[in-house]
Amino acid sequence: MAPSTPSTPHGSGRAGSEGGSPAPTVAAPGSYALDDVIPGVKIFVRKPLPNGQDEQRKAEILSTRPKPKPSAFAPPPPPDAPPPDPRDDTEYYVHYVEFNKRLDEWVGGSRLIIEKEMEWPKPKEEDKKKKEKVGKATPGASTPTRMTGSPRPSGSLLKKAATKAASAVGKAQHPLSKGTPQGKVPQKRRGKDATSSIADDDEDGEEDDEVVDGDGDISMAGSDGDLDGDGEIDLSGPQNPQAAPKVFSKKQEIEKLRTSGSMTQSHSEVSRVKNLDKLQIGKHEVETWYFSPYPVEYAHLPVLYICEFCLLYYPSFTQLKRHRSKCTLLHPPGNEIYRYDDISFFEIDGRRQRTWCRNLCLISKCFLDHKTLYYDVDPFMYYCMTIKDEYGCHLIGYFSKEKESPEGYNVACILTLPQHQRKGYGRLLIEFSYELSKVEGKLGSPEKPLSDLGLLGYRAYWQEKIVELLLNSDDEISLEEIAQKTSITHGDIMHTCQALQMIKYYKGGHIIHLTDAVLEQHRKTMSKNRRSINPAALKWKPPVFSRAQLAFGF
Ligand code: ACO
Ligand code: ZN
Repeated sequence: MAPSTPSTPHGSGRAGSEGGSPAPTVAAPGSYALDDVIPGVKIFVRKPLPNGQDEQRKAEILSTRPKPKPSAFAPPPPPDAPPPDPRDDTEYYVHYVEFNKRLDEWVGGSRLIIEKEMEWPKPKEEDKKKKEKVGKATPGASTPTRMTGSPRPSGSLLKKAATKAASAVGKAQHPLSKGTPQGKVPQKRRGKDATSSIADDDEDGEEDDEVVDGDGDISMAGSDGDLDGDGEIDLSGPQNPQAAPKVFSKKQEIEKLRTSGSMTQSHSEVSRVKNLDKLQIGKHEVETWYFSPYPVEYAHLPVLYICEFCLLYYPSFTQLKRHRSKCTLLHPPGNEIYRYDDISFFEIDGRRQRTWCRNLCLISKCFLDHKTLYYDVDPFMYYCMTIKDEYGCHLIGYFSKEKESPEGYNVACILTLPQHQRKGYGRLLIEFSYELSKVEGKLGSPEKPLSDLGLLGYRAYWQEKIVELLLNSDDEISLEEIAQKTSITHGDIMHTCQALQMIKYYKGGHIIHLTDAVLEQHRKTMSKNRRSINPAALKWKPPVFSRAQLAFGF
């Protein structure tokens, strides 16, 4: 067998499949060129490290694209910049094998190490069968080969995925949309600022800074739709999904709401390649982790500019600035149900603030590797945590919660914006979600599956609360008592105790006991000076929805 004979660039076949021996899957160094690198292959990639050194990591190529043209708004390169490397004319979307998906990135060809071996993709079952047939007819044909005359799939995977996702969005609401009536001006704008009174009673059934239009959607105060005529970007072409006729009828949309979970794991190509590189939110620029179904026009922008209060998105800083001069929103558009120090929580009904919540989902999808359906906001309430300064209440994170959860979930999706992570805010969000469950008199658990970071955050919280109770109770405390006092479900308590090896068999029964290791860890956690939720500052009654409202078929 010739284990590493490469395919020829035009697929004339490789040795190895004749005589029934399996096709080689490895191309030896020097036996292939950059042009042979196609989606599906595994190749070594140079990864710069923070210490200035490089590491060679094996990565799977998920997609390719021509190098995007620099944005019209990008500063010109410095005069002493080295000339561009022609290998970088093509970019490769790489997934580092055995690394978390959020490290996936676009790299120029110059970072691929063709001096090392490369692995061909495993042929799919049906390909194998086809090849077997062809093989019989033309002995010597082998796998895998590059497509003759078509070195790369036409159009990038990303473009296809983005188009698909954007068309699925159907009825998108965005100021750039030509389909959005220009005259959709708020009829009521109370212009409340960040000092809005706490637990603002919503007697008239309306929330602040919002206007419900004919179909129950809401125009954000400060939304503007006047981006035409400045010559900066033309979105009027047929490519604009928002100008396209809507894809889902109301009936279909409702059906989707009923049948789709908020966190179904998607294995489709849509979720494999991330589209945006960076988001600018307020004063922070953050790198995205995953694909998010923003309209296709935004897919190749180096930075997407987001108004941190109304969450509308813009392709340039100039457009954002123009919007900001008109946007009056200074906090999330809902009732402030908690305020303590500079932290507030706003409660927002997904059905009544559909545009805002959809835009929140678009942002959060950039950091959640779960399919959060863009239009699937009606069945959820959103609890948004902000920190206040002289400019307003800035969003730090949020969690969504089903209005009615047959499974007893008290959180659907939870996110701390990356610029605020690892500062204790995730813990605060989790603690708040359990405070709501306590008011409801229910036990609650986060919706599954949890992400890796979600599991770390929850485990840390559950551990802290359970250990705290065990330490503070003189007598033995039962599983039931822990559940009642914390609103953590029996299952989550048991899993936490098992993971920490705190369950012991004693005198014919199981008991929970504290180990030295757990105590030591608890001492360390407690020594960190962190914020906590003050239950007395929560002014909240669980919202009540009629059957008709829960049917989402208004
Ligand atoms: N590595 C190790 N431990 C971590 C990490 C991490 N990257 N992040 C959180 N933890 C653990 C630690 O024990 C931490 O305590 P410590 O900092 O004192 O060591 C504890 O969790 C709490 O950390 P916080 O700072 O309070 O959490 P953060 O604000 O970073 O938010 C969250 C956690 C919400 C999970 C955040 O990482 C996030 O938004 N991730 C992206 C979205 C996501 O995955 N959400 C969960 C999906 S599952 C669901 O939605 C139900
Ligand atoms: Zn705004």
